[in-house]
Amino acid sequence: MASPYEILGVDPDADEAEIVDAYRERVKETHPDQGGSTEAFLAVKTAFERIENGWEPGDAVPEDDIAGDPDAGTDAADGTTEPEQPPEPEGVKVEYLNYEVMADRLWELTDDDLFEKAADGGLAPEDYGEFYVRDSESLLEAAERQGYAWPFACRGGACTNCAVAVVEGEMPSPSSHILPKELHDRGIRLSCIVAPETDAKIVYNVKHLPAVQDLLLPASRFEASSTD
Ligand code: FES
Repeated sequence: MASPYEILGVDPDADEAEIVDAYRERVKETHPDQGGSTEAFLAVKTAFERIENGWEPGDAVPEDDIAGDPDAGTDAADGTTEPEQPPEPEGVKVEYLNYEVMADRLWELTDDDLFEKAADGGLAPEDYGEFYVRDSESLLEAAERQGYAWPFACRGGACTNCAVAVVEGEMPSPSSHILPKELHDRGIRLSCIVAPETDAKIVYNVKHLPAVQDLLLPASRFEASSTD
């Protein structure tokens, strides 16, 4: 049985950044839409969550854990494969779409069928999909926990690099942020400081929207950044 670190391909003394980088790569490699398998994808996600939850080298891996088991889902008696039961999701569901992909296809934020088109569009998992936002995290943190590198710079509501457009659902903002009322009323939110109260559909990476671009502070002004 491989350890969570072996599944991610990192040393047991890897730091947080190395683990997240490795996780992002392994998620891409194993995603079923990218030629991987559901079993391998779930194993990578389980391994990452186990490390996040404090798994230490030397800790036992549960016998029934799919992580690292190449035969996960296979009945040893007759060789048949049983469907894996994914873990019960925790938090509020968010369906997301990358603004750049939307714009490339000439789709509009106001299209009634925007997310139906995205669902049928054969998009890469980093461009379209869904995840759950837990109680204690922001929308941006939840995306990062999935291994996605959404734009950000200040992480404090001051630069708009992390802007998203809420197409459906409730996502209130704290009182302190840089967005003018007009943009806020149009559903623009800052993913570093908001979290959904209901299931939601959002378009991320909307810093390229002209009205948002006017407010952008360059990522280079902030010490920690993942933006271009
Ligand atoms: S990262 Fe600057 S406002 Fe969110």
